[in-house]
Amino acid sequence: MKKRIAIFASGSGSNAQKIMELYKRSPDVEVALVLTNNPDAYVLQRADNFEIPSHVFDRHEFYHTDTIIDMLKNLDIDLIVLAGFLWLIPKNLIHEYPGRIINIHPALLPKFGGKGMYGDHVHNAVLAGGEAEGGITIHYVNEQYDEGEYIYQGRYKIEPGDTLETIKFKGQQLEHLHYPRIVDTIIRKIRK
Ligand code: GAR
Repeated sequence: MKKRIAIFASGSGSNAQKIMELYKRSPDVEVALVLTNNPDAYVLQRADNFEIPSHVFDRHEFYHTDTIIDMLKNLDIDLIVLAGFLWLIPKNLIHEYPGRIINIHPALLPKFGGKGMYGDHVHNAVLAGGEAEGGITIHYVNEQYDEGEYIYQGRYKIEPGDTLETIKFKGQQLEHLHYPRIVDTIIRKIRK
């Protein structure tokens, strides 16, 4: 029986794309659903391109109903992958999927994490902080933003002359290289 992944994303979905590509022809793992809080998110187009079903939800549905948990259970989802998803995961979802929700963050946590720290806000803070290096953190998700156990951290050097665009690019290269690989390691350890 195929192992099944659900991806939550709020924006472009370039990480989601890498994961969808990895499993496009896989005999034993599939991305079964893409979920977003943002009806304009480009990730919806990417899901369509891979003929993967998607679902758009609002705050009420996410925080005050069981619709999404029911959907994930009906699809027999084994692993939830957050890929640029900006809302805090509610307790009931964490309890349904203990140790089965992972996130990627564009900085070396515990620095530059927490509520409101996403995307360019993180990169700008890294630059403003005069850091010698930046990086990415892949971690399990718990009830606090960016505080679950770390799975992997990757680093890049910040050189004089680096800008928002250049460090964003360095971070994205690392994300695209490592997130699919880590997702794959984790999903292969899950027993159905
Ligand atoms: C990624 O850089 C990811 O690390 C970040 O959002 C970006 C999504 O890009 N996540 C966070 O900031 C979470 N706090 P993508 O939509 O192109 O995959």
